[in-house]
Amino acid sequence: AFNLKNRSLLTLRDYTPREIGFLLKLAADLKTAKYAGTEVPRLQGKDIALIFEKDSTRTRVGFEVAAYDQGARVTYLGPSGNHIGHKESVKDTARVLGRIYDAIEYRGFGQEIVSDLAKYSGVPVYNGLTNEFHPTQILADFLTMQEHIEKPLHQVSYVFIGDAGNNMGDSLLIGGAKMGMDVRLCAPRECWPTQAIQDEAHALAKETGARIMISDDIDTAVKGVDFVYTDVWVSMGEPKEKWAERIKLLTPYQVNAELMAKTGNPRIRFMHCLPAFHNTETTVGAEIEAEFGISAMEVTEEVFESPASIVFDQAENRLHTIKAVLVATLGA
Ligand code: CP
Ligand code: NVA
Repeated sequence: AFNLKNRSLLTLRDYTPREIGFLLKLAADLKTAKYAGTEVPRLQGKDIALIFEKDSTRTRVGFEVAAYDQGARVTYLGPSGNHIGHKESVKDTARVLGRIYDAIEYRGFGQEIVSDLAKYSGVPVYNGLTNEFHPTQILADFLTMQEHIEKPLHQVSYVFIGDAGNNMGDSLLIGGAKMGMDVRLCAPRECWPTQAIQDEAHALAKETGARIMISDDIDTAVKGVDFVYTDVWVSMGEPKEKWAERIKLLTPYQVNAELMAKTGNPRIRFMHCLPAFHNTETTVGAEIEAEFGISAMEVTEEVFESPASIVFDQAENRLHTIKAVLVATLGA
């Protein structure tokens, strides 16, 4: 019933709610098959180019292992060692890769780059994170929500709190609106999505029955939700100078035990796309501690390490959901 052959995934906008539901079901089936040892390789002989102009752990290994599990081959093209963007235009690169590869993943900067890659390569292009959107992450998040709650997605509620105008806030808003969910963004006004994204979410909600709330009031926004979600306060590609400003703006919106309690939900779960800044064990963490005297930004170590935290389930589900996208769009 669902033929997604040769389709790109540039944003979740490109897919209907039923198509997204199909991808989630396929991901769950592929996950079961992998662990049962019954996975059937459907991508034999396929070559996939993986372009990463920004760093990645999960997205890269998700695409690589998904491809290998399914019998495909990948080529990693990192931020250096190729001509992309500096000596050769996106349009020319797209035409070259389209001759040699069956599909292209791109992580990097503007959304127009993934659109151009799709337009000029003639093969499916997958958005592995742009400044604007992170659609493969949202598929993993929805699969994880389904695994942790016994109700259909359209009855699920979540609040994304923090830098709500970043790629994750935008994607969770559009994705949840598509799936008819109770979606809340909680942030100071300076960190809200653009009016265009808000309007788009409200228009989608009219069709799907989604409930949308965008608020700077924590108590109202977190009340009764099933999931609390946050992300870094400063995203890749943003200058470090943003740290001071964001810490000032977003400190009241830190996910800590008090905020989790405010949901009033004894079964509340914590989500984060990762990487997270929750202690000072990393070089960035140590730098922030030295400069600002804080040991965590968007989430405390206590919440991150608590039983409510399902962040590593999300991380694992990157593999299974990316695999579903590859199989559905490229599979034999
Ligand atoms: N969540 C996510 O996209 O992680 P990476 O940056 O490690 O790919
Ligand atoms: N908003 C983050 C997400 C990382 C997966 C970033 O763009 O850096």
